[in-house]
Amino acid sequence: MLKDKKILLGITGGIAAYKAVDLASKLTKMGAEVKTIMTAHACEFVSPITFKSITHQPVITTMFDIDADIEHISLADWADMLVIAPATANIIGKTASGIADDLLSTTIMATTAPVLFVPAMNIHMYKNPIVQENINKLSELNYYFMEPEFGILACGYEGKGRYPKNEEIIFNIITLLKYKKDLFGRNVLVTAGASREEIDPMRFITNYSTGKMGLALARAAHIRGAKVTFVHSYVQVKIPEYFNSIESISAKEMHNVVLEEFSKSDITFMTAAVADYTPVKSSKQKIKKSDNMNLELKRTKDILKELGEKKSTDQILVGFAAESENLTENALKKFEKKNLDFICANNISVTGDDDTEILILGNGAEIKLNGSKFSVAHQILDIVLKK
Ligand SMILES: Cc1cc2nc3c(=O)[nH]c(=O)nc-3n(C[C@H](O)[C@H](O)[C@H](O)COP(=O)(O)O)c2cc1C
Repeated sequence: MLKDKKILLGITGGIAAYKAVDLASKLTKMGAEVKTIMTAHACEFVSPITFKSITHQPVITTMFDIDADIEHISLADWADMLVIAPATANIIGKTASGIADDLLSTTIMATTAPVLFVPAMNIHMYKNPIVQENINKLSELNYYFMEPEFGILACGYEGKGRYPKNEEIIFNIITLLKYKKDLFGRNVLVTAGASREEIDPMRFITNYSTGKMGLALARAAHIRGAKVTFVHSYVQVKIPEYFNSIESISAKEMHNVVLEEFSKSDITFMTAAVADYTPVKSSKQKIKKSDNMNLELKRTKDILKELGEKKSTDQILVGFAAESENLTENALKKFEKKNLDFICANNISVTGDDDTEILILGNGAEIKLNGSKFSVAHQILDIVLKK
């Protein structure tokens, strides 16, 4: 997937520098050409020879090498993408202030390629308003930032500041090589998962939705710069810590949360499989066994329909329909009845765990999409953004 991509890896002087060795190795194995720039402080943590042995490419640690070309320019022009991992508070601050006093900071200044920063630092450093202001400033200038993970930090503190998993970084690199930050400044609301309607404290009614399509859309929108709110019922996926996620397990809870969040949203994707019916009465005690049992159900509120009635002209509302027959016909009915901008319909017998096939209708188009849920999510965003 990264074959022949030219990635310039910038290593700065953080304790997580050793983790970037594995990143360099993984990127190289995936076919990328990886050249490395290390700051002087990074060399205190990991030896340049380690990166050189792994990438089989130059590792540059100084700007004033008498035998070299004007490397900050040649490297800046060579790269398809710059990845600063780990990124210290210092390199973020220097870039935000336009300081170019070593090879890495000068190359960042000189490149027109996308730059991805992967901050990792002590929680107080990360939360420091100066660091946050620098991140915000650079984000507005189209630099990309990953959010650090939450956990035990090398300094002994627990909090947000950990270097994210290399798989996550690679995931971001692949996306950024392909897509622009075209959702920057937009608020995106995504619902996902299977609601649970309680019968008694032990039992509930639910469905097979995993939440994977919703998560793929949320992640794709996040990487493309959107501010994402992820409202979820029960999901079988790990939700990234950096999401603004709100749990709402039942249809009633989902209704309340979504209606509250909807007014702030520019684009809403309703992928959650919300129960159409809920028990008339949920028992406080576990219901005892008997020969037969009748469970009386009542309709839940139709959230999508309410949103369709409420939406303003500059809001985009995308519904999802999982069908077992008459895909186009049923999708069209739902599209019209609920006043949607788009509907994504899928045949439940075709959709797999990680792959899907979707028919998207709206804006005068009827397009079939297929592939991994993540790739389909990007294709959906491409279509929705053309509206
Ligand atoms: C043991 C040790 C660990 C450090 N870890 C971090 C870190 O994780 N993140 C960070 O921003 N700075 C960290 N620092 C501070 C940076 O090394 C320092 O700000 C330095 O000036 C960064 O230089 P550079 O950005 O040019 O590599 C650490 C310093 C030491 C001594």
